[in-house]
Amino acid sequence: MPLLAAPLYLDPKVEPPLTSLLDSPPFLHGLVDGLGSPLNVVLPDRVAENVSRFRSVYRRHHLEGEICFAHKANRSSALVRRLATTDAAVDVASLDELQHALACGFTPDRIGATGPKEPEFLWLAARVGATVNVDGRGELEELAGLVRRYGLPRAQVLLRLSDFTGSGVKVQSRRSRFGSPASELTGLLDASARHLDALEVTGVSYHLDTTSLEEKALALEGCVRAMDECRARGMRPRVIDIGGGFGVGYLADGAQWERYTTQLTLAAMGRRESLAWRDHTYGLSSEKGTVRGALELYPSHRPVAGAGYLDELLRSPAPTLGRPLATLLLENLYDLCVEPGRALVDQCGVTLARVLEVRGEPDGTHVVRLAMNADDCALEEHGILLDPVLLRRDRRQEGTVAPSGPVGVYLHGNLCLESDLITRRLVFLPGLPAPGDLLAFPNTAGYCMDFNAHHAQRRPMARKVAAFQDTDGWQWRLDDQYWPIHSAGTAHEV
Ligand SMILES: Cc1ncc(COP(=O)(O)O)c(C=O)c1O
Repeated sequence: MPLLAAPLYLDPKVEPPLTSLLDSPPFLHGLVDGLGSPLNVVLPDRVAENVSRFRSVYRRHHLEGEICFAHKANRSSALVRRLATTDAAVDVASLDELQHALACGFTPDRIGATGPKEPEFLWLAARVGATVNVDGRGELEELAGLVRRYGLPRAQVLLRLSDFTGSGVKVQSRRSRFGSPASELTGLLDASARHLDALEVTGVSYHLDTTSLEEKALALEGCVRAMDECRARGMRPRVIDIGGGFGVGYLADGAQWERYTTQLTLAAMGRRESLAWRDHTYGLSSEKGTVRGALELYPSHRPVAGAGYLDELLRSPAPTLGRPLATLLLENLYDLCVEPGRALVDQCGVTLARVLEVRGEPDGTHVVRLAMNADDCALEEHGILLDPVLLRRDRRQEGTVAPSGPVGVYLHGNLCLESDLITRRLVFLPGLPAPGDLLAFPNTAGYCMDFNAHHAQRRPMARKVAAFQDTDGWQWRLDDQYWPIHSAGTAHEV
């Protein structure tokens, strides 16, 4: 069947309050008219709702501990300030993020420092008393040295581990950039014991960038064993931090995703026409009629993600000890710490781009040029495929612009660069956009808004606003002008 006759939609999953925001085109057009395209809109009240969902999983399993937002997922002040009103903590991965968290209202007991750290970052973390997630022996020694040299308070540390193996277990939790191999724990504990005056080991941690429950279960069980070793050395650890990576389901319809990936495989094998710019196949190829390679895409349709994924992990049996992981934590009275980035800002934002030009191509497709570049909306960079929502400037045009019905469009960015496509995929829209319309890319708050943004060609970076509802409907503030007193219902949350 010809490509354009059988559109392959990838409907985004959209939940309240994003649903209502996208149903307010005049409000969104007014924002972009005033503040320019592209424009990022964040929804602080939804981040609080996401914390509650994680917290209810803790309650279900009778567990205590911190839900730490991995700040790196979004630079927004509004989101971090709103989080400060909840019972969440924050995980900072740079000196600037640490300063930002403090300025947004987080007290140091609700801050964890992770990632590669310069001496200045370590110093400030220790100075204020934030917990430091130590990635290796060198960092441990450096922190102890700073504490002694500058008379800092005794630092609370978590030892981050990776590369867990279980005897008789087929799965292996792979080596990560974060943390020391679990086999090096003894050396780390020897070093910690030498620095008892400067450091207190409060627990152990891991962060694994994988969707595999089995790998994470093995790592969590490995942490419980590591805690036994700490206790055997006379330490009194109380926290197991299992990092982030709980994921997000970006698509509404699993069948659409199945259909799309099947057709992509057929296209890679040359058994149908291409679905993407210059025959791009997202990592697949064909060799003697057999498909080769692996799909280089995020699993955009995920029925179990976020808090639901944590629930499933906690219900999973420990690979060698057999009992559910939640039971293991509970039996030992350990606190559980999680560091979700992407999952905590699920449904918390949208990126808007103005349509500048629409051009028909000889093969029946159209090129739609947007006032935005690929790095302003990094969905493709993260392998996430979803359809934007068309917000007409004039709603009276709905369905009246020729050609009516589904159209296949390539979304070009505004950089003078061959590769600047917002997505290489041929995107199907319900009708042809017109210059002046907006395309709204839902759910970009996790890594896809500002993580990759830059000033190439001296273009300004997208502005960001925080949107919230009150009795008069949608309201907004520039992101850095938003404080939680602006949203209804933020009092008494902590
Ligand atoms: C140490 C650490 N914790 C948490 C996260 C957050 O991961 P995610 O956004 O997948 O939940 C990351 C992401 O890179 C990380 O490196």
